[in-house]
Amino acid sequence: MAVEWSGSTPEVFIRLDRQSPETLGSQMRNALRTAVREGRLHMGERLPSSRRLAADLGVSRGLVQATYEQLEAEGYLQAFGGSATRVAFSPQATRVPSPKPPPAARMEIDFAPGRPDLNSFPARDWLWACGEATRTASARDMGYDDPQGSIRLRRVIASYLQRVRGAFADADDLVICSGFTQGTALTLAALRDAGVTSVAVEDPGHLDMPVLVRRAGLNPVFVPVDDRGLVVDELARTKATAVIVTPAHQTPTGVVLTPERRLALLQWAEQVGGVVIEDDYDSEFRYDKQPVGSLQGLAADRVVSVGSVSKSLAPAIRLGWVSAPRHLSARIAEEKHRCDRGSPALDQLALARLIESGRFDRHLRRMRGVYAARRGELVEAIGEHAPGLELTGLAAGFHAVAHLPRGADEAEIVHAAARRSVGLQGLGRYRSPYGEGPPGIVFGFGDVNEDAIRRGIAAIGDLLRQG
Ligand SMILES: Cc1ncc(COP(=O)(O)O)c(C=O)c1O
Repeated sequence: MAVEWSGSTPEVFIRLDRQSPETLGSQMRNALRTAVREGRLHMGERLPSSRRLAADLGVSRGLVQATYEQLEAEGYLQAFGGSATRVAFSPQATRVPSPKPPPAARMEIDFAPGRPDLNSFPARDWLWACGEATRTASARDMGYDDPQGSIRLRRVIASYLQRVRGAFADADDLVICSGFTQGTALTLAALRDAGVTSVAVEDPGHLDMPVLVRRAGLNPVFVPVDDRGLVVDELARTKATAVIVTPAHQTPTGVVLTPERRLALLQWAEQVGGVVIEDDYDSEFRYDKQPVGSLQGLAADRVVSVGSVSKSLAPAIRLGWVSAPRHLSARIAEEKHRCDRGSPALDQLALARLIESGRFDRHLRRMRGVYAARRGELVEAIGEHAPGLELTGLAAGFHAVAHLPRGADEAEIVHAAARRSVGLQGLGRYRSPYGEGPPGIVFGFGDVNEDAIRRGIAAIGDLLRQG
């Protein structure tokens, strides 16, 4: 006899056929998978408790629990510390490879985070470095070299990371790649091959992270971030054995992971035999205090540190590096070989020459001054035009968060600003469907000059006053 179930939360239909040769467990798993895939169960939607669903379907609670666990492992569902189980998969999220579609209209002043000052790219120095690289490249350099990357660049980056980031970097364990995005994708593929199935990501966090995790065939697990960074206790409640974090300057909140949380995170990694992927994306630019050293320097056997020149030079250079423990670096290099046989040799040699010659350091010093001035302008302009907004996350990088009064309509403020040709991003767009928190605006000030900052904030102050 067939048993049908239809509950009010959620509106899902499960049909169990007790005459079928297919087991009841398999029928339940298939029915739930189909409901999620077809969009009848939406991302973030809560499922009935195992007790309730078991009673409705006339099956044991253990069978429902096993079904939920299996679908969690497959990435369809996510459990929340013994409370609710929710849908963790959206058919659109896997179909759309880029989570950041270009803005519909070009804004006159755009506070989009993540962009360095593109007008300050040191074109003359880069031209010089490319000339040097081309002039001095050997015949061997022009062939299929080591997929790990040019040994010259690896040595230069290793000593740069030791000097500037307090990292434990060894040229033999570095893999040169096409930016953080590829470095992380390669690392995730290597972790998957090593048996990892679930990877935690920050919530709110960079929109690309869950997409990269899914594309590697792994399950993203969202872990909340508070004013001290990633909530490690929550991480420990999940099944994840790897996590991607932005400890030096969290994206998007700008929070710095506190020393206690750093230790707790490394202890977690030790306890679960896990791996921390450190996204060290903008730590070169630090204003208030001494630089926060890289996590990798504290536990080189547990941390994979991924960096790039996307913030220090320009995203278009598409060069980055992965500094990994020995047991992973060989796998990551294999992935790199399979993916594209290595990053462009002349660009690698040019970057090596740029750093060796001191021109890269000189550029960073100059840019620190540029960003410090923009940051100062942002603080001042908000104080003058929108004094109700509290700014946090200013210790490093070139984005910060302005906290809106409770109850403020974040989306409406973003739209109203767009109507005045001021591009803003709300904190909400960085949250998972389970994430919640007060409204806020992420202000990127890397690619906005001081005059534009002042005019943009004046316009926002004006629209906030108008309510
Ligand atoms: C948090 C974070 N990590 C990494 C990156 C850089 O990625 P890539 O090196 O691939 O350009 C960005 C760029 O926006 C970012 O915001």
